[in-house]
Amino acid sequence: MSEKSTASLRAGAAVLGCALLGLSASAQAAGDLAEGRAKAVQCAVCHGIDGLAKQPLVPNLAGNSEIYLKKQLDAFRAGKRQHEQMTIIAQGLSDQDVADLVAWYSGIKVSVELPADN
Ligand code: HEC
Repeated sequence: MSEKSTASLRAGAAVLGCALLGLSASAQAAGDLAEGRAKAVQCAVCHGIDGLAKQPLVPNLAGNSEIYLKKQLDAFRAGKRQHEQMTIIAQGLSDQDVADLVAWYSGIKVSVELPADN
């Protein structure tokens, strides 16, 4: 196959992928930032209201993409990802709760500093 046709195939696949993502996104509840901040109070003891973990075995949530955070919460809700605390917490969340919480935590901007010698 020529390079040109491979490239246009890839472009076609990308367009199709975006269209599919768009479709599934429109079928989902839109997240509300203010609601998300209010609901994040129940997550704050471990993840912080600012999304920075308060305990060593807890991951940071701040700045992760919406798609990633939603995927993890849905996996906990469906039992595909298991953790004794998070599974119970996530199973108490509605679709709207997830959308709001994800809007809040993905909306937090993070900045990083590389280790000194780099
Ligand atoms: C009691 C502490 C605790 C509370 C409260 C808590 N979490 Fe968690 N959360 C954890 C731990 C621990 C993990 C890591 C689980 C693992 O090791 O697989 C985690 C993982 C996650 C992840 C996956 C992150 C990743 O990068 O893999 C998300 C998303 C998440 N929590 C969201 C929430 C939200 C939203 C709330 C509030 C509704 C919440 N958590 C409340 C302890 C907590």
